Amino acid sequence: MIRKLSRAIREYKRDTVLTPVTAAMEVVMEVIIPVLMAFLIDNGINAGDMGVIWKVGLLLVLCAIVSMAFGVLSGFFGARASTGFAKNLRQDMYYAVQKYSFANIDKFSTGSIVTRLTTDVTNIQNTFQMLIRIAVRAPSTLIFSMVMAFLVNARLALLFLAAIPILGAGLGFISMKAHPAFTRMFKHYDRMNTVVQENLRGIRVVKAFVREDYETEKFVDASEKLRHDSALAEKILAFNSPLMQFCMYAIILLISWFGAKLIVGSSMTTGQLMSMMSYAMQVLISLMMLTMILVMGTMSRASAARVVEILDEQSDILNGEKNLTAVKDGSIQFRDVDFNYKRSGRACLSGINLDIKSGQTVGILGGTGSGKSSLVQLIPRLYDAVSGQVLVGGEDVRDYNVEALREEVAMVLQKNELFSGTIKDNLRWGDENATDEDIERVCKLAQADGFIREFPDGYDTYIEQGGTNVSGGQKQRLCIARALLKKPKMLILDDSTSAVDTHTDALIRDAFKNEIPDTTKLIIAQRVSSVQDADQIIVLDGGRIADVGTHEELLKSSPIYREVYESQQKGETANAS
Ligand SMILES: Nc1ncnc2c1ncn2[C@@H]1O[C@H](COP(=O)(O)OP(=O)(O)O)[C@@H](O)[C@H]1O
Ligand SMILES: [Mg+2]
Repeated sequence: MIRKLSRAIREYKRDTVLTPVTAAMEVVMEVIIPVLMAFLIDNGINAGDMGVIWKVGLLLVLCAIVSMAFGVLSGFFGARASTGFAKNLRQDMYYAVQKYSFANIDKFSTGSIVTRLTTDVTNIQNTFQMLIRIAVRAPSTLIFSMVMAFLVNARLALLFLAAIPILGAGLGFISMKAHPAFTRMFKHYDRMNTVVQENLRGIRVVKAFVREDYETEKFVDASEKLRHDSALAEKILAFNSPLMQFCMYAIILLISWFGAKLIVGSSMTTGQLMSMMSYAMQVLISLMMLTMILVMGTMSRASAARVVEILDEQSDILNGEKNLTAVKDGSIQFRDVDFNYKRSGRACLSGINLDIKSGQTVGILGGTGSGKSSLVQLIPRLYDAVSGQVLVGGEDVRDYNVEALREEVAMVLQKNELFSGTIKDNLRWGDENATDEDIERVCKLAQADGFIREFPDGYDTYIEQGGTNVSGGQKQRLCIARALLKKPKMLILDDSTSAVDTHTDALIRDAFKNEIPDTTKLIIAQRVSSVQDADQIIVLDGGRIADVGTHEELLKSSPIYREVYESQQKGETANAS
């Protein structure tokens, strides 16, 4: 785990090394200071020698300044190293998430990914900074101070050596108890973030259904659970400080007691006692720092595991061995394809066989949940078939370079998205280098040019986050234009004109027929009118192909199709009258 995380240090290696080095220099200075202090007291103050007081005093100030300078430097390098490390780690995670397939994304909730990218990385960053600053500093202070203490007075030094195992055992126990609470705490963070995200994304729906109270309750519940486990973890950790204090005062008391006896018996000087006290404090302070590392380590162990989980998640959609980069034509075949979503395990599509010629227009009809979206998602490999074969341009989709395949298969998802930015920015997702003429051409095709021109800013109109300032039908047409800009060999529209009126819908289909005759067009629709002039219409029912044929053929042979058609006809006449 540590090895995987430490890959993110990269260009910050120098800072990462300089931090402990400068910290060690600071320690050296801190260890020298008590020696000088003892000398000052015994040979200066007690002997009444002003010359010594001046000289040693100046030396003390100098040491203090140097020590401080190293302290500042170490802090400086530490900050650079840890923030840089966190930046790299976040980038690595982000790249990993970008490579995820839809199946990978199904596994983590958005809230969880966000927590991992923010809170968890911050935890690790703090621990990392502590580690490089204190992991060297604390043990070296501990060792140097112990050595110096032994040199001054071995018997007194043994006193605080005895305290270390007691402390160690206590701290180990505390950290062991706190770890599970921390792990749970992060789960609650995920849950809370998910609730907030869902609520904010769907705030309009929440309001429309007057579900604010319910949503608030969900949030209160999540944040209460978070509070409970954080409080538990912190409560356990709160035992740290009394334990430390107890050890500290016990040792100071013991040193004073025995030290006083030694001074009275003239086997120790006041200065030596003073320096003993300083060393005892330094030993305890460094122990305290070590515990802090332990506590942070406990907390970040949970975080680190969660971060590594993101980094380790392998996309199951990889480039094929053949890595074909050219798609010959827009033909599509399905051969005995079965498919199910890993999470549900329930068969979603079974025994699908299809033969679509390049340039054909294919309609797909079926009730909600019949597998229409799932079927078309197999074509650009948003998911992979569980068994059977999907062929595009005569080759198995798994043999293609994934990007090359998706370049040729433009898909307007049922849950389409616009991003904040101008209309032009959004459309250029389809092709970064598209000229203004290209953009206008595809917008005319998608019947979007008209309403875009009516906006005061035209093509430079700013689209708000999530496309909230355009209507549903406008958004759909912009998404179609964006897909067209890719000049794909295959165009898949997943219920993409549901919010567009029938007249405009017909205009779009006419434009497709006349302007992009060589592009294979797959149109999922609810309205029979959207697909009735297609070369073939596929009727899906419960994940199986119920019937295939043209409008006329299906009217004769398919009871489902006929029923849907007749019910919609009735609706039309009713509307008209
Ligand atoms: N990401 C997913 N994870 C698990 N199950 C899913 C997922 N998407 C769809 N399903 C399930 O697969 C079935 C078919 O869904 P879908 O292809 O979206 O139907 P349609 O587009 O025809 O309405 C449904 O039962 C649905 O619940
Ligand atoms: Mg669907």
